[in-house]
Amino acid sequence: MADEKKTHGSEKKYGQFHRRFFEANILNFAVWATIAILIGGIVEIVPMFTPAGTEVSPDVTPYTALEVAGRDIYVSEGCYLCHSQWVRPMRAEILRYGPWSRAWEYQYDRPFQLGSRRIGPDLHRVGGKYPDAWHYEHMRDPRSTTPGSVMPPYPWLITDRIDADDVRASMVALRKTGTPYSDADIAGVDESLAAQGGAIVGRLAESGIESEPDRAIIAVIAYLQRLGVDGRAALEKQGVEY
Ligand code: HEC
Repeated sequence: MADEKKTHGSEKKYGQFHRRFFEANILNFAVWATIAILIGGIVEIVPMFTPAGTEVSPDVTPYTALEVAGRDIYVSEGCYLCHSQWVRPMRAEILRYGPWSRAWEYQYDRPFQLGSRRIGPDLHRVGGKYPDAWHYEHMRDPRSTTPGSVMPPYPWLITDRIDADDVRASMVALRKTGTPYSDADIAGVDESLAAQGGAIVGRLAESGIESEPDRAIIAVIAYLQRLGVDGRAALEKQGVEY
């Protein structure tokens, strides 16, 4: 009983202080709320301007034309609503996905695809994890490779075609925001799409899957197989242990 009274008493005292000092004094409230918001802002913004936050790496190369096409499909299909691309610096994540994601790995990700929910696994280091044929079957029908999967099927990717003009437009836009595509890169979009697409179609054919280099699925596979690969190689080169 005595204890209860004591707690109640101190709460009352604190409540009175809060009421008189903050709630009844609008100027005080505004000043302290502003200070609290400023601290929150500084904590979020300052790291972006530190050397670690603005670091770039020559080991990360811009996406190829086909990978840009795949990335545009990833964004338009809303894959980021279920998948993050951010391995967090925690033991369980590193064991499952590999080295945690560094800021410079996103240097050509405009906009970045960090995502905010993980209904499916993180995809930041999915590149090289599965053969191309696995991705083909998984995108056509996720339950064929992963029984019980709640990922929706994307069968239209198998028949839809990508448009080289759209890819070119995306690359021109990316160049404006700082991705170092040369004029030759932009002029060579058709050849680049055909070459990388052809290589994937060739690997799929070895598994008995027939496709064509300009299908949407081929672009998505190129993009997925690329994710995290440069970063992992750069970290291994630096001898970073994880
Ligand atoms: C409704 C949520 C949802 C959406 C949307 C979604 N996925 Fe998934 N995805 C999952 C789930 C759940 C899994 C885990 C089960 C499985 O492998 O199918 C998964 C698994 C994956 C995997 C295998 C990852 C691994 O490491 O095993 C890839 C690759 C993938 N998704 C790509 C995509 C792409 C590309 C898109 C967009 C075209 C997409 N997903 C859209 C839920 C989703």
